[in-house]
Amino acid sequence: MWTELLPVGRSSASGGYRRFAWTAADAECRAWFEEQARARGLACEVDRNGNQWAWLGDPAAGNAVVTGSHLDSVPDGGAFDGPLGVVSAFAALDELRGRGVRFTRPLGVVNFGDEEGARFGLACVGSRLTAGKLTAEQAHRLTDRDGISLPRAMEAAGHDPEAIGPDPERLARIGAFVELHVEQGRALDELGHAVGVASAIWPHGRWRFDFRGEANHAGTTRLTDRHDPMLPYAETVLAARREAERAGAVATFGKVAVEPNGVNAIPSLVRGWLDARAADQDVLDTVVGGIEQAARKGADGHGVTLDVVRESFTPVARFDHALRDDLVRILARTDGPDVPVLGTGAGHDAGILSASIPTAMLFVRNPTGVSHSPAESATEDDCLAGVRALADVLEGLACR
Ligand code: GLV
Ligand code: MN
Ligand code: MN
Repeated sequence: MWTELLPVGRSSASGGYRRFAWTAADAECRAWFEEQARARGLACEVDRNGNQWAWLGDPAAGNAVVTGSHLDSVPDGGAFDGPLGVVSAFAALDELRGRGVRFTRPLGVVNFGDEEGARFGLACVGSRLTAGKLTAEQAHRLTDRDGISLPRAMEAAGHDPEAIGPDPERLARIGAFVELHVEQGRALDELGHAVGVASAIWPHGRWRFDFRGEANHAGTTRLTDRHDPMLPYAETVLAARREAERAGAVATFGKVAVEPNGVNAIPSLVRGWLDARAADQDVLDTVVGGIEQAARKGADGHGVTLDVVRESFTPVARFDHALRDDLVRILARTDGPDVPVLGTGAGHDAGILSASIPTAMLFVRNPTGVSHSPAESATEDDCLAGVRALADVLEGLACR
């Protein structure tokens, strides 16, 4: 499976992946998914929100067990964030068939659309729409950096955008969703375990900071005459680091747009996107409040205006305790009693669905902890341990 999937959407310049929602690379990933389903005799369907499902057994029977993840990527992402969960899902099914087990519940493999939100700015669009956490109207207003709206992009990729919206009937058929994911930190490596179980996802969000000043000549405008939005923006980036450090949170400005973006022009606009996350909602509020306060002070000091817009927010996701304990018990049979149970600052479709259905996650060791980068890695042995763990979990849930 990796041999076919690895070249798709890979940049030869960076070695990273550029698999953005509803692009040609995304279509290739979807075709790969369909082919994997077909090769295994699974019934493949695309739901109203563009998520792909492959079924063994009839989901209409209800109480289905679903596993999978996403195939899209961040700009220059790694090979494993998302695809490891989908590849492992198909591999776990193969493993279970090899074991000759009998399935007592329908089993689904899913590829959620647009998990990273790299193109339209909002993460987990496919699962949010399905769970009713994003309305069709809100989704219709999303645009990419070229001004192409999500509905237009969907339509161009052959998907009917008028159909998008909540899908409670589909969710009602699912009794459990288990997402396997590469760990995006070093906890498993430090603990010496190949596989762990998730406890919770930190609350997190994205905020857009628009600093508007006055474009002018970089050579002739006296410093005292400038309204340069880059300066309060720079102060805000430093404040984000300071506030996050003080609170034990994380805060990142990883995307910035500058107008007119000329080397010899003072900018008229600096637009920066803040990604902030913390273990606790109050802490997150304090961090973002502190950053915004610093931004306003900086903007005032430089004669620049500031607008702050919260573009998305995901509250804390606590995974289903009974399902989590099931996973721990099942892994303990092969891994011993001290199965790691980890919280994470990374967002996942499993987190979105956790408010609607029993949901759990497995993490596979990442020796460097690096993710959202071409350097993301996992060893073949650990990936295989992940597949075995997922197969054990699915066997425990769907083959009783
Ligand atoms: C998704 O990977 C996120 O945590 O932003
Ligand atoms: Mn990711
Ligand atoms: Mn992911």
